[in-house]
Amino acid sequence: MSINFSDEVNDEIITTTASLPEDNAEGSLRPKTIREYIGQEKAKDNLSVFINAAKLRGESLDHVLLFGPPGLGKTTLAAVIANEMGVNMRITSGPAIEKPGDLVAMLTNLNEGDILFVDEIHRLNRAYEEILYPAMEDYAIDIILGKGPSANSIHLDLPRFTLIGATTRSGQLTAPLRDRFGVSLRLELYSPEELQRIVIRSAGILNVEIVPEGAYEIASRSRGTPRIANRLLRRVRDYAQVRANGVITREVADKALSSLEVDKLGLDALDRRMLRSIIDFYGGGPVGLETLAATINEEAVTLEDVYEPYLLQRGFLTRTPRGRCVTRKAYEHLGLEYAGQQQLEL
Ligand code: ADE
Repeated sequence: MSINFSDEVNDEIITTTASLPEDNAEGSLRPKTIREYIGQEKAKDNLSVFINAAKLRGESLDHVLLFGPPGLGKTTLAAVIANEMGVNMRITSGPAIEKPGDLVAMLTNLNEGDILFVDEIHRLNRAYEEILYPAMEDYAIDIILGKGPSANSIHLDLPRFTLIGATTRSGQLTAPLRDRFGVSLRLELYSPEELQRIVIRSAGILNVEIVPEGAYEIASRSRGTPRIANRLLRRVRDYAQVRANGVITREVADKALSSLEVDKLGLDALDRRMLRSIIDFYGGGPVGLETLAATINEEAVTLEDVYEPYLLQRGFLTRTPRGRCVTRKAYEHLGLEYAGQQQLEL
C-alpha cells in the first residue's frame, strides 16, 4: 500500500470530527466512570477486567470494537474507557477520513497509551484500512513520500495506542479489520428500568424535579435508547415548566409525550408509518427492505439501523428470508384487525 503523503494534511477535517452526531448538549449528561455508567452490565464487566489487567501490567489496552444500534452510548463508553485508563482520547470517524494523510496525521499525533476513537468505522475507505493493519498490530506505519523513481519509503514507529472502533453494523467490517480487535463488545438496547435510572440521573444534573413514575414513563417510551431518553426528558421538562408546575409526574410526561406523537410504547410517527405501510401496501408482508424504504421515502440503512432494532425487540416486526413482516401484536397496537399473514403463491 502506498500512502501519498505529499498532500497537505487538512486539519480542518480532523477537527470537525470533534462534533459527532451526539449533540453537544449531551456532553454534560455523560457518565465519566464505569461506576456512573448505567446498564450494559456484560460489556462493563468485561471491560473492567481488561482495563484493570492492562493497568496492572502497565500496558495499553487491547483494541476494542463496540457495536450496536445508534444512541446506546458507544462514544460515551469510549470516553469512560479513556478516563479509567487515565489517557487522552482523539476522536474521528470513518467518513471524515477523506485522505490517507488524515489517518496518518491522527496516528502520528498520538501519545503513548492514547485512545483513537473511530466512529462509524465500517464507513472507512477500504483502501485506507491497510494503514491500520500494521498500526494496530506492530504500532508502525510505512509511508511513501513522492512518486515514481524518486519515491522514498519511510518507516514510522507509533506509540502504543488503543484503537476503539464503533459501528452500527459489525457485519460490514472486513474480516482482516475485525480480526485485529482483541476485544469485541455488543451494546444492547436498555431496559426501561435502566433508562429510568438514567433519566433520574440526568434530571439531577439538569436540576429538574421528577418523580420515579415520571421517569419511568419517559424511560418506557424511549425505544431502549439513552440518547432518546435524554432528549425526551428535555422536551418534557419544557412542557412541565410551561403547562404544569415544573415537576415531571407520570401524567405530565404522558401528556407531553403524547403531544410529541410518541405513543405508549415509544413508537414515533415513522415507526408507525413503517408498520402501516407494510400493512396497507403489502398485506402485512413479507416485503423487501429496499422496496419498503422506497415506499416510505427513507433510506434502507436508516430503517435497518435506527428503526428496526426496537420494532424487532418489541415483537412488532419479524425478519424472514422473503422480507419484513408485521406481527399480530403490531396490528393490535395500531388498533387494526389482524387478517392473518398474506398467503404466498408458491
Ligand atoms: N447518559 C447516557 N447514557 C448513559 C448511561 N449509560 N449511564 C448513565 N448516564 C448516561
